[in-house]
Amino acid sequence: MVMQNDHNQAAHPNGTHRTGEENLAGRRLVVMSNRAPIRIVREGSHERIEPTVGGVGTTFLRLLEHHGGLWIAWSGGQKTPPRLPFPPGHPQFAMSFVQLGERDVSQYYYGLCNRALWPLMHSMISNCHFNGSHWRQYVLVNERFAERAVAEAGAGDAIWIQDFHLALTPAKIRARRSDLPIGIFWHVPFPPVELYMVFPWREELLAGMLGADLVGFHTHRYAAHFLDACERVLGAQVDRRSSEVYYHGRSTRVLAFPLGIPVDYFERLAANPATLERAARIRRALRSEIVVLGVDRLDYTKGILERLLGFERFLEDNPAYHRRVTLVLIAVPSRTKVTDYIMLKRQVDESVGRVIGRFSSAGWVPIRYLYTQFGAEELVAHYLAADVALLTPLRDGMNLVAKEFVASHPGDDAVLILSEFAGAAEELTEALLVNPYDADAVAKRIKEAIEMDPAARAARMRALREKVHDNNLERWSASFLHALAGDFTLEAHPASLASAD
Ligand code: UDP
Ligand code: G6P
Repeated sequence: MVMQNDHNQAAHPNGTHRTGEENLAGRRLVVMSNRAPIRIVREGSHERIEPTVGGVGTTFLRLLEHHGGLWIAWSGGQKTPPRLPFPPGHPQFAMSFVQLGERDVSQYYYGLCNRALWPLMHSMISNCHFNGSHWRQYVLVNERFAERAVAEAGAGDAIWIQDFHLALTPAKIRARRSDLPIGIFWHVPFPPVELYMVFPWREELLAGMLGADLVGFHTHRYAAHFLDACERVLGAQVDRRSSEVYYHGRSTRVLAFPLGIPVDYFERLAANPATLERAARIRRALRSEIVVLGVDRLDYTKGILERLLGFERFLEDNPAYHRRVTLVLIAVPSRTKVTDYIMLKRQVDESVGRVIGRFSSAGWVPIRYLYTQFGAEELVAHYLAADVALLTPLRDGMNLVAKEFVASHPGDDAVLILSEFAGAAEELTEALLVNPYDADAVAKRIKEAIEMDPAARAARMRALREKVHDNNLERWSASFLHALAGDFTLEAHPASLASAD
């Protein structure tokens, strides 16, 4: 497969080439994901557009706003026009919405995606729920996405599929359009093969992904797990030196591309006087000498209960810090119809209540719990207002919040505590790394972060900022797209560098 560098303006079947839809390396980029980056909110006769939350949405929104292209995604159950130029007024790219029916949403999205693949990929087998009709609906929805891509894509386009919702889409597009370069990026971890083996449709899922020319993961480890699975489950031939899988007469490259963030965007926001003023307001309202911050979707992979246990242990062990430290816990509502998420919400509410009840005293509440979603400005104001970020996922593909926190502290005056089990921990080694399952260790890390001397804090933060700068979103997308074009000079990482465990 070769990706040409010439502009191909004429080939689009719908005749929709506009400014902003032509793309990187001369090809228009067609991005596909389940979740759209925006949703339309209607209140009476009034309509407004809001961003959605999650790594895929935030990442590609910034990318396509910059480079243009076409984005195919689920409408999210909203009434949407089939095609929406975005942002309205000065469009940079176009959204093409796929409508899903009730059965699709309950069986494909809530069922197979959120109750089977999500826990499976995070190695949380006891949360997995496998159901044959959910799988059949998953196949049908992937078929529908593939049909849309085939209808939309011109001869000069490149297809970039996102995440585990659309694992079968590469092979389904490939079957109809062998001319198109197809890449898929997996935003979640990939489990060790012994765990992966429990998935009843383990062959079909891998074969679907191998319809792509390039499969990308955040880390070498996940990529190595995937290669193991291709070998063991499919009996495919795997070349670990070149990181290629040979299957049914084709080859697929499997590489690690640790996802980066739009650093300039966060730096600009953090330097904006309005954001600084908001941060100062947050600080004043908290009336706390030291602010520790946690930010996640409310998800059982994020270790929110473990974070609360660690913070509680810290307060037990350090009475001297009572009345001086506040934990700000931002938990964004997510997948609220899934039982495990409903239960987790209840447990988080109870744990927060327990800690507040145990330790509060006149004029001091140790936790500020915000069950809500913030826009980027308000979020960065919270990053800025915090002295310590406490991010404790039990397993996380990457964890962009960690990188955003670093980029939002140009003064190097903060400390990042990060779970060893986040993909980001492989790069951000100057963070205070912690095992989130160990409440004593979390408590110690909080104390260490608070008491770290300013020079050591600044040195760590500077090193982290350099890394976040070096591998920013632009670089990440360029290295993926170059690799999709067969050019591996931009530091794509062979999976074979990591030993599978
Ligand atoms: N985010 C947001 N508003 C919030 C909380 C988070 O926009 O109130 C964004 C955050 O900036 C980040 C993304 O949601 O870009 C979360 O990505 P991450 O990789 O940390 O976790 P995911 O939700 O993808 O598992
Ligand atoms: C993770 C997944 C994304 C997903 C996001 C939000 O980041 O990797 O694909 O979009 O969570 O979850 P949701 O189910 O609301 O799309």
